[in-house]
Amino acid sequence: MTAQIIDGKQLAADMRAEIKADVETLAAQGVTPGLGVILVGDDPASRSYVTAKEKACEEAGIYSDDNRLSADSSQEELMALIGRMNNDPKINGILLQLPLPKHMDENAALLAINPAKDVDGFHPVNVGKMLIGEECFLPCTPHGCVQMLARSGVETKGAHVVVVGRSNIVGKPVAAMLLQKKEHANATVTICHTGTKDIGYHTRQADIVIVAAGWPNTVTADMVKDGAVVIDVGVNRVEDATKKRGYRLVGDVDFDAIKEKASLITPVPGGVGPMTITMLLYNTVESARRTLSLPAGR
Ligand code: GUN
Repeated sequence: MTAQIIDGKQLAADMRAEIKADVETLAAQGVTPGLGVILVGDDPASRSYVTAKEKACEEAGIYSDDNRLSADSSQEELMALIGRMNNDPKINGILLQLPLPKHMDENAALLAINPAKDVDGFHPVNVGKMLIGEECFLPCTPHGCVQMLARSGVETKGAHVVVVGRSNIVGKPVAAMLLQKKEHANATVTICHTGTKDIGYHTRQADIVIVAAGWPNTVTADMVKDGAVVIDVGVNRVEDATKKRGYRLVGDVDFDAIKEKASLITPVPGGVGPMTITMLLYNTVESARRTLSLPAGR
């Protein structure tokens, strides 16, 4: 079987057109959604993510308040900036790009963000609400994965989903979302991680494999059953002298081999990545809509 490629760029473009229309509806009511962006330090990957997020805001008609703090900024400076954004009515969502420099307390910073503006869904209040199935801001990358499955017509109800990776940003939340007794969820979920004895034993039983391990070739073709759906969340730089920039991006799975076995697979780049940013825009617009007490969107 040769897999159909899930085109994340196209799905993201479709959703961004919907979001742009929602922004125009809000504008007609005098509301411009606003995103406060904070990047601390100059990690090149974080810098390019943040730049892409700001560009996407501009294209969608969302105001973005861009803030760069130097790598040696203090926790107090960061907390003051978060406090300023919490109190700024023009800002509906706050994006604190992670990771923070080592001397900073990431959990304290996330806790300081007003949960009503936590469009990344990382505040413990939103994490807790997500786990118990209450309405909240869902974290962008896992929400993007769920949207990709839904918009590709993949049935999750009763499916066995195996998640590889247990990060707070992807693995744990995507597992929590897919096990809810809800539409586009209701799956049987297994989570594998570095403590798992034989990851392949589990992934071979999966109807859907979601890989967010942070390492190339974590999942190879022998670890996937025929016809499985494979969502690759990884973004890894591997050296490549044939490229002008000296590297190319690959995911966490052996894409070339697995695409001959899976029924559906996401590429890297052009898979989950564009959906992550889209869900951030979606949450920011949703937050702005809530200030008007309008009914929830899609
Ligand atoms: N770092 C890696 N992924 C993310 C994300 O989705 N949001 C934020 N804020 N930081 C990240």
